Amino acid sequence: MHGLKNIKTLKEFEFQDKTVFLRLDLNVPMENGQISDETRLLAALPTIEFLRQKGAKIVMASHLGRPKSAEDKEFSLEPVAQKLSEYLKAEVLLLDEPEGHTLKHLLMTLRKNQFLLLENVRFIPGETKDSQEFAEELAPYFDFYVNDAFGASHRAHATIHALPKLMKNRCIGLLIEKEIKFLDQLLDNPKRPYWAILGGAKVSDKIAVIEKLLDLVDGFVIGGAMAYTFLKAMGHNVGNSLVENDKLRYANEMVERIKARNKSLLLPVDHLITKSLKDTSNLKTTSDVNIPEGYLGVDIGPKTISQFQSALLSAETIFWNGPMGVFENPEMSKGTFAIAKILAESKGLKIVGGGDSAAAAEASGYADQMTHISTGGGASLEYLQGEPLPGLEVLRYKHGR
Ligand code: 3PG
Repeated sequence: MHGLKNIKTLKEFEFQDKTVFLRLDLNVPMENGQISDETRLLAALPTIEFLRQKGAKIVMASHLGRPKSAEDKEFSLEPVAQKLSEYLKAEVLLLDEPEGHTLKHLLMTLRKNQFLLLENVRFIPGETKDSQEFAEELAPYFDFYVNDAFGASHRAHATIHALPKLMKNRCIGLLIEKEIKFLDQLLDNPKRPYWAILGGAKVSDKIAVIEKLLDLVDGFVIGGAMAYTFLKAMGHNVGNSLVENDKLRYANEMVERIKARNKSLLLPVDHLITKSLKDTSNLKTTSDVNIPEGYLGVDIGPKTISQFQSALLSAETIFWNGPMGVFENPEMSKGTFAIAKILAESKGLKIVGGGDSAAAAEASGYADQMTHISTGGGASLEYLQGEPLPGLEVLRYKHGR
């Protein structure tokens, strides 16, 4: 099921003096103890501000990375607490042990303009196990549960799933509301022509979304390493490029199915190649679709860029997920950034799936010209695939509960 049927939003409740458990996705990339990309943190601010304006006592919670235990201090939310405190111009108290007496005491003494942030919920073993026990420890302290962690809503984890299951008053925040509004435009009566641009390393990661989009889009543009699997399946030489040999048959079948439905499929017609990712002294562009032995593809070539551009020119709806090459290396970023520019210049609806594509859109300098960049990588794909997201499903009210 998609959409927000039977899910309540913030506007439907009164929050004055109420204690709110606010689950956010503050899983921001870190480099040397510093936040290297604040996108998710900034995306969390409107809901925090909304609840503050409404007079709520706010306890925020999030995971960060995938720590093995509470000893993995590099996964502490300390830098996040500091940054939040700067943006909110308020004190954000980081609470090491979210359960029990400390929480109770802090909630009782929490002053106006003070926030609580629970330390990385994945430090608690029960979190990723969707522990009922952990949820039962938390639930009694709260009047409301608000989920605004879109990026983590595909995880059946305790603070996403077990906890709201116990809460009578539960709803989504402003970020999830926005995410779903845009993603639904890709699913419900999208304007045409509608193109999906898919890239990234693996066909296997994208199979489910290709299947879902097959009936919806007018055409697919496929780049990135996943294109080499398609090209090999079609009999082209791909040299040493990354290929999923166990997906060749699937790729072939997919090409046939796209053709049978009279939809377009654009694959690269030339490539940027190198002998090794580490040594880029021999980077060059192929003259056609074939990649010579001893070389691997690392980006789409100029002829491909111009073909993709012509096709996307008239698009009314574009969904982009996955880079066209190894864009983190500036020498191999041209194709991915060209896609970002094509989207920026398009007058249609342009939605970027999270994760790598969001980072690529950001690095390209065109991020502000996209209609929407999702904060959820896995979550946005699962949603588009038609998978029920545990963090959303649990919020639906059935028969008044
Ligand atoms: C993400 O980064 O996609 C979300 O924060 C979820 O993180 P996870 O993949 O570690 O569950």
